[in-house]
Amino acid sequence: MPAIELVVCMGSACFSRGNVRVLELIQTHLRERGLADAVKVKGTLCQDRCRQGPNLTLQGECFCGLGPDEVIDLVEERVAALQAAAG
Ligand code: FES
Repeated sequence: MPAIELVVCMGSACFSRGNVRVLELIQTHLRERGLADAVKVKGTLCQDRCRQGPNLTLQGECFCGLGPDEVIDLVEERVAALQAAAG
């Protein structure tokens, strides 16, 4: 299964609006589910969309204002879709 790329904005606005918690929880979740190799998590600097934050990009698609639970659900959906496509 190809890796899914999750890029979390760690600029000061997104960091303080919740991405610090998102990053902690998604990494813990992926380790617990054995998906650490399937989902590559990276941080990035400010993406100049601070007002919409916290921001992240999943497989090139930008998402704004998501909390940790929503991010986990989204990542799980993408993983399930890739697993289904891989058979
Ligand atoms: S800090 Fe995330 S877009 Fe600016």
